[in-house]
Amino acid sequence: MAEVIDILKEASARIRDSVEGMAGTERAAGDFGRGAGGDISRNIDVTAERAVLKYLEESGFSCVVLGEECGRVEICGGDGGHLIMDAIDGSANAVRGVPFYCSSLAYAEGGRLSNITDGVVTDLAMGGTYAASRGKGATLDGRPISVHGPDPIYRMVGLNTSGATPETVAKLQNMFGGGNHTRHMGANALEMALLACGQLDVMVDLRKKIRVQDIAAGYILVKEAGGVVLDEDMGPLDAGLGYETRVSFVAASSTGMARQVMEGAG
Ligand code: IPD
Ligand code: CA
Repeated sequence: MAEVIDILKEASARIRDSVEGMAGTERAAGDFGRGAGGDISRNIDVTAERAVLKYLEESGFSCVVLGEECGRVEICGGDGGHLIMDAIDGSANAVRGVPFYCSSLAYAEGGRLSNITDGVVTDLAMGGTYAASRGKGATLDGRPISVHGPDPIYRMVGLNTSGATPETVAKLQNMFGGGNHTRHMGANALEMALLACGQLDVMVDLRKKIRVQDIAAGYILVKEAGGVVLDEDMGPLDAGLGYETRVSFVAASSTGMARQVMEGAG
């Protein structure tokens, strides 16, 4: 049997092939009603998920899929761990043709984020496959990657404020000062991948809205690249993999960098 990471990489390749040419077209937008994660499932989401489910069945990889649209699906008896699937992260970008969306697949041996052993994020617009396995580091297209060091020329900060309440925006005020260059890109998993390869220093989402499907692969990528994934109190983030779970998080190249950014220091 292939290694888990190879299964995730191949499943990501199947997603890429299945949605090729779809972004920004009417075909991408077709409405399939609300998925298990609570958002409207678009044709591009459903097409991508189906490609993964078909591949997993064909390859005989026994696991329980926790998909953002399809929900819980047992594959080949469902004896293994959990495959956490956000087949298209950044669906709104993909539907409108904004070239920032990805697939996000992770594997966990237990029912929590901290049980994740492998993750793969594939940039579906620009290309590039980010992968990480516990204890083995992170790679981009097979080459090792790591988070940026402590003194970046520009302090690059991914910030998710989509649909944020006034209370959440108030908590972020300090971040707009100091040397922070804030960016809002619209696909959390891919932003975490950019952090893992040193292009962003911090990624902040304090909306308490994000599902674990959206961050499962990014979580292990950031950690294996030498970074940290924290909760809003700056402690290590952990959470159950259930559909009801919603988290806030700060991912960063280090805890010191996270604090510096949150305080808007210098
Ligand atoms: C979305 C993206 C986006 C975030 C949304 C998520 P989806 O994921 O991660 O950055 O603002 O909250 O729902 O729905 O495209 O998989
Ligand atoms: Ca999605």
